Amino acid sequence: MNLTHKKILLIISGGIAAYKSLDLIRQIKKAGGDVQCVLTKAGAEFVTPLSVSALSENKCYMDLWDLTDESEMGHIRLSREADLVVVAPATANIIAKITHGMADDLATTTLLATNKPVMIAPAMNPCMWGNQATQDNIKTLRKRGFTILDPQIGEMACGETGQGRMVEPDDIMNAINDFFFKDKPLAGKHVLVTSGPTFEPIDPVRFIGNRSSGKQGHAIACALRDQGANVTLVSGPTALPDPNGLKTIHVETAVEMMNACQGNYDIAVCAAAVADYGVKHHDQKQKKSNGALDIELTENPDILQTISTSKNRPSIVIGFAAETENLVQHAKEKLLKKSCDAIVANQVGNKDNPVFGSDTTSIYWITKTVNEVHENLSKSTMAAILTDKIIEMMSDKAQEKDKVA
Ligand code: CTP
Repeated sequence: MNLTHKKILLIISGGIAAYKSLDLIRQIKKAGGDVQCVLTKAGAEFVTPLSVSALSENKCYMDLWDLTDESEMGHIRLSREADLVVVAPATANIIAKITHGMADDLATTTLLATNKPVMIAPAMNPCMWGNQATQDNIKTLRKRGFTILDPQIGEMACGETGQGRMVEPDDIMNAINDFFFKDKPLAGKHVLVTSGPTFEPIDPVRFIGNRSSGKQGHAIACALRDQGANVTLVSGPTALPDPNGLKTIHVETAVEMMNACQGNYDIAVCAAAVADYGVKHHDQKQKKSNGALDIELTENPDILQTISTSKNRPSIVIGFAAETENLVQHAKEKLLKKSCDAIVANQVGNKDNPVFGSDTTSIYWITKTVNEVHENLSKSTMAAILTDKIIEMMSDKAQEKDKVA
């Protein structure tokens, strides 16, 4: 199981099954995931914050009113930074509080504030589980889209037998894996996305850059992640936050971007607006002098072309083309010159439709045989369309391979 770059918020409430949550933390860490934990006051009667933080390698959060934590990592941030929230064990009490929107401690406040999917592993006495109140609460939570991992039947710590034992950590891990990857067409695929501009420094103060905001490249990285891909996003300087659930590498220059793109990938999408030329860099700030200033430019590597002609070429390579004129013709030339499977072409430099920095865009999807236009869509919708096209290409290539074999 590979949970690399996945962030899980684990809420441990007060039940004897809390000891199993320690093993769950260990398993998430072993799978490469990041786990932040919130331990309720009752939970701390069963496991210590020290064991939780030692195993998770993160601070164990307990108190809503700890002002330092509120500034470092408040309940809103805790609930938003995760890809998935898991409540294990979930007592009848916390289930009732979640159902009724109560928020009287850090755990319940975080659960009320979250906009992320929540998975609940109940653990309680069989009579409490069977009680109509609990069953009604569970029914309501299921209807609201919560994933409930039904407790198992067996002997309870209290000596009674019946349904109420929390599922095993292995079962929770399988449910987490299903949440991220089950039936996702790009599960197991390693994808590289470049995004944003590059900045080529002239001296310690100035640089040559461009108007790319990175919005389209970042949206594509997220859309590919949502289809199960393991995404590495190599980003030039942008004002965008790092997306959840993927690895972001920050670079500044084209050469740094080229270096960060090394590796074996199944798919590469080069959406960055890479400077074709770097500047012969000066260590000291250049002083103003009368007359024109000469800047010596040096050719940068073409990242897209290097990737698509390399020995370990990804099976799908997608490039972009930003053109001010003859859009389709130039894009077709780039498709051949840079040996790509497709080019996403957009017209830039139009004052009424700036593309750079905008939240909407229009593109041509150009392959050797296809020339399709998609107009006036949000960059996230465009990213979803492009991702569908990439998935289609992957399955066509797989079928071709099967035929040859
Ligand atoms: N690209 C790249 N490395 C470069 C230049 C461009 O990887 N040094 C990639 C971009 O990420 C994009 C594609 O090549 O996917 C086309 O970029 P674009 O700027 O439109 O074209 P250029 O190749 O730079 O050609 P020109 O500036 O002449 O249009």
